Amino acid sequence: MFFFSFLYKSFLEKNSLRKVASEDGFLVGASVSSIPFLEDEKYRKILKDEFNLLTIENDMKFAKIHPQRDSYNFVIPDLIVEFALENDMKVRGHTLVWHATLPDWLTYKNYSKEELTIILKNHIQEVVGHYRGKIYAWDVVNEAYNDDGTLRENIWLKTIGPAYIELAFKWAHEADPNALLFYNDYSNEGINPKSNAIFEMVKNFKNKGIPVNGVGFQMHSSITYSKNYEKIIENFKRYRNIGVDVQITEMDVKVQHSHAPYDRRLEQQADMYSKTLNVCLLSSNCSAFVTWGVVDKYSWIPGFTGQKDAPLLFDNQYRSKPSYDALYKELEENSN
Ligand code: XIL
Repeated sequence: MFFFSFLYKSFLEKNSLRKVASEDGFLVGASVSSIPFLEDEKYRKILKDEFNLLTIENDMKFAKIHPQRDSYNFVIPDLIVEFALENDMKVRGHTLVWHATLPDWLTYKNYSKEELTIILKNHIQEVVGHYRGKIYAWDVVNEAYNDDGTLRENIWLKTIGPAYIELAFKWAHEADPNALLFYNDYSNEGINPKSNAIFEMVKNFKNKGIPVNGVGFQMHSSITYSKNYEKIIENFKRYRNIGVDVQITEMDVKVQHSHAPYDRRLEQQADMYSKTLNVCLLSSNCSAFVTWGVVDKYSWIPGFTGQKDAPLLFDNQYRSKPSYDALYKELEENSN
């Protein structure tokens, strides 16, 4: 009897990415953009049906969540976090320290080292403290390195000095000791000067007892640039050897700038998504795979590149694309 009711239930429940991922405790996620989240019921339905992890695309960034020196705005991120928890999804917090999306009150004034240190500490502790127990992992510091492996010039480096990175991790840990703390960046998935510098920093943090748990690899990709999957595996492995988790945090795959027929481009896109997920599933320290958006029409890519594109898993009619099918198949075959 139990067996038949189980069969009947499985038959009724539509298969989904989250369902096949959850069977193995794997996290499959997407970033959430506030306008469709607030206005588009179909968008929200895809989120809760398909994913067991959400990242808030913009609304936790400094200028959004801390618009005035003495006021915070948690309204939209609170709604998204509540939605996620109600639907049994985890949330990645994005992001506490970045060079971009800073409020004018911060950039238009020259603060002293002491003042900016207090501002950053208060910001991190206020935001992480507000979500204590609700955010599964934070991107504590985002994009702090240049491609040549040097630290990026930004207000934090200029005023506080290179110690801003480790201080940020310490402050975040104090505010929520159970949240996993990540360093997140782009073009850091292979082996190159940038990824080497990030690895050395994280290794050094581990040795010094700075609370870092993982490294995020954004993976904004394009069918016109090939990936060296062997190198990604090698990179993920060196993190495993020092006890650090890795996650794919912002994947999308551009199809613009190609002369191939559209259907072929979508196949190439699917291939790139599934090979990247495959690397993650084969790496025992890779715990999540997140796409940067859900439905093509809401992707940041057209605004960012100035060109039309279709970088995500669902088309503008909310139909799943070959990339969706490829990820589903990959999850079904390779989760362990
Ligand atoms: C992007 C958002 O998707 C856009 O909507 C926004 O206008 C700019 O930021 N790396 C990151 C993300 O870590 O926060 C960025 O998100 C994309 C690149």
